[in-house]
Amino acid sequence: MAAKPKPSRDSLRWWEETRSDSEHLVDWLLDQYRGEVTAAGRIEHLRDAYARPGSRAHRVLTVIAGQERRHADWVAGLLIARGLEPEVRGEPEARYWARTLPGIADLETGCAVGAHAERMRLERIEVIAADTSAPPDIRDVFIRILVEERFHERAFRALATQESLERTREAHALGREVLGLVP
Ligand SMILES: [Fe+2]
Ligand SMILES: [Fe+2]
Repeated sequence: MAAKPKPSRDSLRWWEETRSDSEHLVDWLLDQYRGEVTAAGRIEHLRDAYARPGSRAHRVLTVIAGQERRHADWVAGLLIARGLEPEVRGEPEARYWARTLPGIADLETGCAVGAHAERMRLERIEVIAADTSAPPDIRDVFIRILVEERFHERAFRALATQESLERTREAHALGREVLGLVP
């Protein structure tokens, strides 16, 4: 099992800046909404392309996709509470996926790509969940999301192989770099 990701100083600084600026915060919630909605679609696509119906992988990917959809609903609730219409707009993380998705050749490399991406996202969610002065509704949602994203990271890793994790690592690092999330 992978070690728990530690919040980097970068993540802490990012959250302090985001939390204190309501426009920033709302933009970030919209990004999260888009991320969750599109994650569900990507995972179902991976499942339908490479997992045999009735297999364990097929079941696990179905559960993960369903949870991503539920996360989108939870984040939508946060947006609605702030008077905003949840909508999928823009696609900044397309630059990340453009680096990593071409490396998917089978179930193992697909799950390896998923494991790297989930792990990256956990770094930031951990920071929010740990922040007792965060807006309570946001913190509550991200504490719930955190539990399930940790499961996704473990489940993807378990469906991947050491070799596929290694093979997809460089594309992940490059994708992270284009997002400005250099470790
Ligand atoms: Fe999610
Ligand atoms: Fe996830």
